[in-house]
Amino acid sequence: MHPIARTRSDEDYMRLALGLARRGYGLTSPNPMVGAVLVKGGGIIGRGWHHYAGGPHAEIEAIHDAEARGHNPKQATLFVTLEPCCTHGRTPPCTDPIIRAGIKKVVAGATDPNPLHRGKGFKLLQSAGLKVTFGLLADECQGLNEAFNHWIVHRTPLVTVKAAMTLDGKIATASGESKWITGEKARAFAMNLRRGADAILLGINTVLADDPSLTFRGQRSEVRGQKAGVRVQGSGVEDRQPRRIVLDSMARTPLQSKVVTDSSAERTTIVVSPLAPKKRVVALEKKVRVLVAPLQGAEFKVQSSRFKVQGSRGRRSPVQHPASRIQHPKSGIHHPLSAIHHPPSTIREPPSGISLLWLLKTLGSENVTSLLVEGGGEVNASFLLGGLAHRVVFFYAPKVLGGRDSLRAVAGQGVSGSEQALNLSEVQWRRLEDDWLLTARLQ
Ligand SMILES: NC(=O)c1ccc[n+]([C@@H]2O[C@H](COP(=O)([O-])OP(=O)(O)OC[C@H]3O[C@@H](n4cnc5c(N)ncnc54)[C@H](OP(=O)(O)O)[C@@H]3O)[C@@H](O)[C@H]2O)c1
Repeated sequence: MHPIARTRSDEDYMRLALGLARRGYGLTSPNPMVGAVLVKGGGIIGRGWHHYAGGPHAEIEAIHDAEARGHNPKQATLFVTLEPCCTHGRTPPCTDPIIRAGIKKVVAGATDPNPLHRGKGFKLLQSAGLKVTFGLLADECQGLNEAFNHWIVHRTPLVTVKAAMTLDGKIATASGESKWITGEKARAFAMNLRRGADAILLGINTVLADDPSLTFRGQRSEVRGQKAGVRVQGSGVEDRQPRRIVLDSMARTPLQSKVVTDSSAERTTIVVSPLAPKKRVVALEKKVRVLVAPLQGAEFKVQSSRFKVQGSRGRRSPVQHPASRIQHPKSGIHHPLSAIHHPPSTIREPPSGISLLWLLKTLGSENVTSLLVEGGGEVNASFLLGGLAHRVVFFYAPKVLGGRDSLRAVAGQGVSGSEQALNLSEVQWRRLEDDWLLTARLQ
């Protein structure tokens, strides 16, 4: 008896293209991950994916793959996870070679998220006589590039807050010791998050307590099916490491710390405030990049009853910003903020520290599409309670640390009423050995 030959559906081809696209995980930024499959006469004649930014796009790879295998892409159908580009970037537009190759039909998953280009690629192909359908497995195809989709529209990175904690929500003992909270599988998952992130951010207290290296440790070639170093050779992506960002208002990062001295030091940015002692800044600048950022101020989105609203039509008067009354805990210097206008009761945290909104805009302008915030508790709180995080990845170990002074995963001042609690959506739980992993989106 012969097994019944299963004919592949359009969905099957798109799933294959999605699998190919994922091979570019952590390598393509600031470009999206894209996969493509060329089908002719009921069989696959070419496969391609975008390997790295600046390299050929998936559609072109698929055409080349077909030709290299002796197939003619003429009259073939192209399954591609993202609308083919029609503009010149680092590479020429994909629509031209698709048309030139004589492909008769394009089946796309997601449309181009860039509002300036959306739908233009499809129109160009259609006007050249190709049949175009789109929206097949659209959710999966769009979800694949969540960070890119966010960045291309807002020009700031997608922010994910990651923390590994005990069941009572603690990330370190009172003495600051935080090693081995979660098990091996959870740590491997966290490492994979680093692989996909353009930058990792943490607070100075974590640098002082842990002296972390914050590098991706693992083989890029572990990516399923990736021919390590074959096509990506010379592109520099084999040892692509995320950037490391330290929030350090007073430039306290030790000169001998790993982020300053190790082989990835050129990827470290210490973000200091204008209040940082000049001598310290100069010393750090000799080893790593130092960015002088404004202190958190007018733009900070937090909630407070301290702001007065005047006038019956909701006109707001300039009021003294809380930050202007805040002294830096170490320097005792007043923040240089004067009376500023504020949006109505959107304040949740008294502003202090580096302006995160400014930093996000700066990182976005430097092509950082995804930012992984790795704590500690103060920094996590600033992003979460400040309304600047989009996703959380929380690992829970079946342990209890207890302790009045042990450190919490989310510290800060917290919200003043339970009705102001942050609500999570798209919540997913997953078991990782003895640990639990929660991933969710901020509403
Ligand atoms: N288990 C885990 O997943 C995990 C992960 C990370 C850390 N940890 C532990 O957490 C502990 C440190 O946490 P922490 O809460 O004390 O400190 P932190 O979050 O690491 O650092 C907070 C400091 O960052 C600086 N900062 C500058 N701008 C800021 C802003 N906009 N928002 C918040 N902070 C800003 C401030 O110091 P300046 O005023 O001097 O700038 C602030 O005091 C360590 O013991 C570490 O081991 C555990």
